[in-house]
Amino acid sequence: MNELEEQIFEAKKNGLSDQEIGEKYNVNLRFIEKVITKYLGVNVSSPTPNKKVKMLQPKKFTLETTTVWSFKSRGNWATHNGNYRGNWSPYVPRNIILRYSKENELVLDCFCGAGTTGVECKLTNRNFIGIDINPNAIVLAKENIDFPIYGTLSGRYTSPKIIFNVGDAKDLSFIDDESIDLICTHPPYANIIHYTDNHKQDLSFCNLNDFLEEMSKVAKGNYRVLKEGRYCAVLIGDMRKKKHIIPLGFWLINVYLKNGFSLKELVIKRQHNCKTTGFWYKNSIKYNFLLLAHEYLAIFKKCSSKQEQMIEVPDQSSFKSISTALKPMSIEKLESTTVWIFGNKNWHERTIQNLIKRYDVDDYNIINGITELRKLSASNRRYSLLVLTCTTLKCFQEFCNSTDEIVNYVHDDGYLTIICSDIRLKDGTIYPLGIKVESYLRNRNDLKIKEIVMISLENDGCKIDIDSKDNLIISHKYLLIYHI
Ligand SMILES: C[S@@+](CC[C@H](N)C(=O)[O-])C[C@H]1O[C@@H](n2cnc3c(N)ncnc32)[C@H](O)[C@@H]1O
Repeated sequence: MNELEEQIFEAKKNGLSDQEIGEKYNVNLRFIEKVITKYLGVNVSSPTPNKKVKMLQPKKFTLETTTVWSFKSRGNWATHNGNYRGNWSPYVPRNIILRYSKENELVLDCFCGAGTTGVECKLTNRNFIGIDINPNAIVLAKENIDFPIYGTLSGRYTSPKIIFNVGDAKDLSFIDDESIDLICTHPPYANIIHYTDNHKQDLSFCNLNDFLEEMSKVAKGNYRVLKEGRYCAVLIGDMRKKKHIIPLGFWLINVYLKNGFSLKELVIKRQHNCKTTGFWYKNSIKYNFLLLAHEYLAIFKKCSSKQEQMIEVPDQSSFKSISTALKPMSIEKLESTTVWIFGNKNWHERTIQNLIKRYDVDDYNIINGITELRKLSASNRRYSLLVLTCTTLKCFQEFCNSTDEIVNYVHDDGYLTIICSDIRLKDGTIYPLGIKVESYLRNRNDLKIKEIVMISLENDGCKIDIDSKDNLIISHKYLLIYHI
């Protein structure tokens, strides 16, 4: 370790924040992470040990009921803390564990990091196997699980068996077929954050294609060890390159679907570390990109005897056709992140206004279906922004049959935006329409995906979707924004 690295490590031990170190030594966050990882073998934000446990369970906890999950604080009960870089908020595994497993069942996290899922299993009386490639993460996980506990929510505490092992998520050969009741895991997001000092099997050193290939092996193993009819939850986020989104989330979900899983829920997890004012707001406008503010929590189901019924529930969310004579100037502040939170009554209008203003267009059109497309063809015009709604399977089929025609209505350097939403099938699973549209358009050379935006519908008194106690209420839509 050279002198600069030693100084940085000392500063970190003395409690300086990354920002203060960056300014003092003129280094970026990536460099600081590298130094810490090199020195400790683990990517932590603080090298000092955890504080004592003040409270064992979260204060006010209720299960999430919709498809948009938003936790303002990350959660600091038991030994939870944000030290291990990229660890997930304990609210996520807690929701999954309580909804999809029972006490004394067996939960697996094959990318367990510093053990957040294991701690939640201990607190909720589930047995647990945690695997991570990084031995130093496993040391941290074992420290984090080491706290006394005298009872659970139900009062029948049976001292669950919690195991942490160093291992590779691709090799679950030590676990029997169909022996796991729930998988709850959080892989690296390709190579965005490195977790080890370049361990050979560490997936956080894989480029995008290699990552997806390796994750296919993980998905296969997950499918084999999971019991029939049970669930596998995976949290994953997107990446950004040259002001364009790379839809890693959608691509990984496709990998799991190709390996036999069905999709039970597709949850949007909001991220709150996104700055939406000042410097970042200005840059989002100046350089025309949206700040990533969401991740996907895909909840897969293993049902090998699949009888998927492609029958839709009635489309509750269709909106009345709106005038193209909108007043584009009537919004005060443009959305600057990938999550737009609008009321259920006016979301469509506000969406269109944001698109018009962000992409600075005055020649735009909004089409709500194939009939309107036919009217468009009569006018023989092209637009800088074309917004198309595709929220049903029928619409999607029509869209696939007319894609060339649709693309043709957009000027070069213009934008095609597709509004879609997931569809709940009769068997309770999800038909992920946003993912299907993106897959369908992925290989077109004339379209480049620019942004994937989540429209989160606040419940302002309107019923959002058909509910059932087994299903989450679908309360978001997708905007797939393509640049031509
Ligand atoms: C996003 S972190 C998980 C954090 C965890 N949820 C927590 O709360 O601490 C991803 C983890 O995957 C681990 N990892 C990378 N490649 C792996 C592999 N092939 N097998 C198992 N773990 C791996 C990394 O070491 C890292 O701890």
